[in-house]
Parts: sequence; C-alpha cells; structure tokens
Amino acid sequence: MLRSAAQRLTRPNTARAITTSTPKPADPKTIQWSSIGFGYVPTRSIALAEFDGVSWGPVETQTDPNLSIHCLSNVIHYGQTLFEGLKAFTHKNGRVMAFRPDDNCARMNHGAERLGMPAVPLDLFNQVLARVINDNADYVPPYGSGGSMYLRPFFFGHGPQLGLGKAKRYVLGCAATPVGNYYPSGIKPAKSIVMGGFDRASPLGVGDCKTAGNYAADVRPSSMASARGFTVVLYLDAKEHKYVEEFSTSNFVAITGDGKSFVTPDSRSILGSITRFSLETLAEDQGLKVERRKIDFNEVASFREVAACGTAVVIVPIESITDERVQGRSKTITIGDGRSFPVMMSLYNRVTAIQRGDEPDKFNWLRYICDRPASA
Ligand SMILES: Cc1ncc(COP(=O)(O)O)c(C=O)c1O
Repeated sequence: MLRSAAQRLTRPNTARAITTSTPKPADPKTIQWSSIGFGYVPTRSIALAEFDGVSWGPVETQTDPNLSIHCLSNVIHYGQTLFEGLKAFTHKNGRVMAFRPDDNCARMNHGAERLGMPAVPLDLFNQVLARVINDNADYVPPYGSGGSMYLRPFFFGHGPQLGLGKAKRYVLGCAATPVGNYYPSGIKPAKSIVMGGFDRASPLGVGDCKTAGNYAADVRPSSMASARGFTVVLYLDAKEHKYVEEFSTSNFVAITGDGKSFVTPDSRSILGSITRFSLETLAEDQGLKVERRKIDFNEVASFREVAACGTAVVIVPIESITDERVQGRSKTITIGDGRSFPVMMSLYNRVTAIQRGDEPDKFNWLRYICDRPASA
C-alpha cells in the first residue's frame, strides 16, 4: 500500500545533528486573544498534499509540523520553493472567512511557472486551506479580539537530485497560527532606509515571485538596518538605483503632494501585493486617481503620505526615508509632516473593516471556510 504524503514526510528523524522537537500545540482555551502578538503559536496540525511527478495525492493533515525530506532536495540547494501569506477572520456571526485566497493561489502559480514547478489547481489550494483552518478552527481568534488566523501556504520541490533541474516530487502544504492585532495601541509610523550596496531583485529575475531567494537576499541588509533603528529597508531598481521598487516584505504606496492620486511603482521585479490591489480598489472607490507607474526616487520628497503595505500589518505609514545610496552621504527625507497619514489611515480602516465583516464586502474578497466552534 502506498504511504500517504503525511507518512512519507514524517519519517522518524535518525540524524543526531538536527534537533527537531515537535512543539506541543497551545491550548486554544487558555490563549489570551488580545495579547498574542505576532509570534508563532503552535496549533493542532498542518495540511499537506504531494505531487508525485504525474498527479496530486489527497489532502491530509498531520500533527507534526516537522517534515522529513532528502538532504539533496531542490528546495534546499536550488531554492525551488514558493510560499504565501494570508489571513482568515471570525465575523460577528461566527463564520470564518479567508481574505482573497484565490489571489494567493494565482500568485503562487505565477511563481510556479517561473520556477518550473507544476501548477497548483485552485481547487486543491482551497482544499488545503479549508483543511488546515477546519482542523484548527478553535485557534481562529474570535470576533472582537482584533486577531486573525495567519495562513502560510508553502510549495517546494524535493527528492534526491544532484544536478540543477526540475524536482520530481513537490509538496503543497499550509501551516496556520493565530496572530494578534499588529497595532494594539494604534498605528505608529516607521523609519525607512535605502541602503547602498544591496539589491533585492534583478530586472528580469524572480522579484515578482514569492520565493525564498528574494528573502535570503534581504536578511542581512534588514538586520543591519534594524540594528540602527530603521523598521524597513526600501529597495530601488537594481539596474539604475533610481526608481522605487518595494520594501523588504511589503509594497510601496503613496499619496501625491496634491492629495489627488494614489501611486505605486510599476515594475517587473516587485511582488504583486494583494493588500496593495485592495488599497488600489478602495482608493479609486473613494475618488482618488490610481497610478501604477515608475516612481523616480527624487519624487518621493514631494509625496504627502507614504506607506508600506502587506498582509501582516495592512499598512505601515512611513515617516521618513534615509537615503544612503552613496557611502558617506546620508540624507533623510521626512514624508509630509512625518506624523499624519489621513488617507492611508482611512484606507487601513476600510480594509480591516471589510476583513472583519464590519463593512459590506462589496468587492467580493471574502471566502467562507467554516464556522468557529462557539465553545472555544
Ligand atoms: C516582497 C513582498 N512584497 C509585498 C508583500 C505584500 O504582499 P501581500 O499584500 O500579498 O501580503 C509581501 C508579503 O507577502 C512581500 O513579501
């Protein structure tokens, strides 16, 4: 009999050099929803499905979040891997709703095509999400707590392989962990920096894919920036270092000096942020002109508001950008008055109200997954 994906991927680990402890799941009944913050809270299970080179196997859950794969797997050596991030929210009526999951699947498939990986059928992607959320429904923060269930789909090539080429087997999985309100005491603006000496993604590379290498390239510059008190690194285009691209893990959005336009860079090498797509729609809905175009870094000083946007936080207003492209010549630009971000705040309030079911979902962004157990 064929072993299931879950069995194959959880062979007992006999290696002595690696310590893979299996975390004890948190007890959902004792979680303090209002103070969980943004760390990993171990939940009951993850969901997995495997592609064996010909077809996809069934979606299964397993309680152990550790995976056992061959040490010569493509994911380890050649970075043939993609991930996603999205959230599910409990509405007042107890229904658990995922925010724009189909767009995450589309983005994963964009990456899969670029990295030579098989396509992930939308139905399978949604099954994996539904399975992990259903199995961990009592971990979805309740309505009113300000929290949500963060979902981390992942997709990678594995199996023994020495030379560079497509992997023969692939795993699609999803982990789920409850997260709290990122801003328990109100939104705080952040300081950003453009660092000399580091690029995020090349013009025709994989910057528009949610793949590991883009993040590996950012670990060191982001740590250096953080040690100096900057919250986010802003990257410019890798060819000329002239045009705005995006922040480490979020897109760049701005309100022009005249307050009339919502602008965001148009570039082949940035990730298509689903939060940004939502902000664009809402900005247009509230009468702003939406411009996707090249943004010369010199224009940034004229913007009234700038923000970083992404799933985890929705919006981080940027109070200043320090330009250190040329060594020894540091220049800091304050955005607007550095303190007030009325348009970004109104967009933030609308996105989060739709996500929580407090404003009608007029753009059809939410997908029903299951009911949250009333007893949890
Ligand atoms: C590089 C990068 N840009 C932008 C985003 C924001 O995308 P989203 O709004 O879909 O979370 C993310 C986070 O996923 C990211 O990693």
